[in-house]
Parts: sequence; structure tokens; C-alpha cells
Amino acid sequence: MKQTGGGEDAKRRAGESAAEIPDDGDVVGLGTGSTAAHAIRALGERVDAGLDVRGIPTSFQSRELAREVGIPLTDLDESLPDVAIDGADEVAADGALVKGGGAAHAREKLVDSAAERFVVVADPTKEAERLSHPVPVELLPDARAPVAEAVRSAGGEPELRAAERKDGPVVTDNGNLVLDCAFGEIDDPDALARTLSTVPGVVEHGLFVGLVDEVHVGSDDGVEITSY
Ligand code: A5P
Repeated sequence: MKQTGGGEDAKRRAGESAAEIPDDGDVVGLGTGSTAAHAIRALGERVDAGLDVRGIPTSFQSRELAREVGIPLTDLDESLPDVAIDGADEVAADGALVKGGGAAHAREKLVDSAAERFVVVADPTKEAERLSHPVPVELLPDARAPVAEAVRSAGGEPELRAAERKDGPVVTDNGNLVLDCAFGEIDDPDALARTLSTVPGVVEHGLFVGLVDEVHVGSDDGVEITSY
């Protein structure tokens, strides 16, 4: 059952806790979303105070914020992240994640999985015993019908993500579309992840299995850290 206790303070505490991790000289993967944004701001304050790090953004949003708060940027061609800090839409007890609520999961998975240490920041509303959040699937625009059919064959119900304040669908930072795919409670996230990865036209899906090293969950009065 989902817990209560979310809210901006809980997200901020989680973000600030993770932003304490990077050391001088580190390259830091900068996640996307409202919780990761707190980590980026807190890291910016540390840079302001003299910390020497470079960031690798996972989206347009995180690049803009990193620039705004003064974090020098680099990319995966130059260096791999020592640590990546990112949010999640759902965190299962075994550390499996659903990501992609902001449609940034393709680049997030690239950066987070390349990191030596992948740290998730969340509030208690994201915690669940098992994953059941709809899985975002980024796909090439031409692949919409066949990918939707493959998702149905895998037991899911796909829905094209609609844009807000624009007619038509969400278009990702990579120029692709997103299907939100409801599978109900996911018995075997690893098997589903492998199935979705093999569908032609799928760019990336939002199941992150076996990737996370640490989860920082903020609450009204502190931060709980779980290592995997
Ligand atoms: C971006 O595509 C997502 O993976 C986010 O990291 C995720 O949706 C968490 O965002 P919030 O911290 O805003 O809930």
C-alpha cells in the first residue's frame, strides 16, 4: 500500500541528503523531476561554496537548472559519472523502479546505469512493496501501432501520453512519443523489462531493475537511507 507523507519538504530533505554525497573531482549524473531538482539546487549551493564537481544532465530541464545554479557541465563522451542522483515514480522494496513520469527515462537510464553509484531520491508516497505504476515506454513515432500491440501481448494496456497546454501527444527531448502502459501489479519486473527491450521501435522503457545502489526517502522529520 502506498504511504502518505509526500510533499515538498520530504522531497527537499531527500534531495539535500543525496547532494551531500559527491566529493571534489566527482562527475555527477543530474536526474530529472521535482525531487532531483532539490538535489541539483543543493549541489549548486555546494559548488558555490567551493566544491569542484561537473554534472551530466539527463534532460533539458536538468541542464537548464544546473546552468542556473552554476554546476559546470560535461557529457558521457568526456567522462562517466561517479554518482548519479535521480528521482523515481515508484520504488519497490527490492529496489526496482518505475521512472519516466517526466518522459526523460531514456537519458536517465543511460546516465544512471553508467554511474559508479546510483542514488534515488524520493518521498514516502513513491514506496511500494511491488511495482504497479504504469510503465512509460518511449518509442519512435512510426512505431506507435506495433509497439502498442506488443504491449497488449505482454499483458499491458497502452495509452499515448497527451501533452498539456499543447494539442496532441507529449514529444520527448529525443523527438519521440511515450506510451504509458498499465500492467497492474508486476510479478517479474526483470522479465517484463527484457520483453519490452526487445520490441522493435522501443527506444527505452521506464523499468529500472537491479540498477539502484541507494534510496534516500525524505519525510517530515528526516531521511531514511536504504542500500542495495
Ligand atoms: C523523469 O522522467 C522521471 O523519471 C522522474 O525522475 C520521476 O518522474 C520522478 O519525478 P518527481 O520527483 O517529480 O516525482
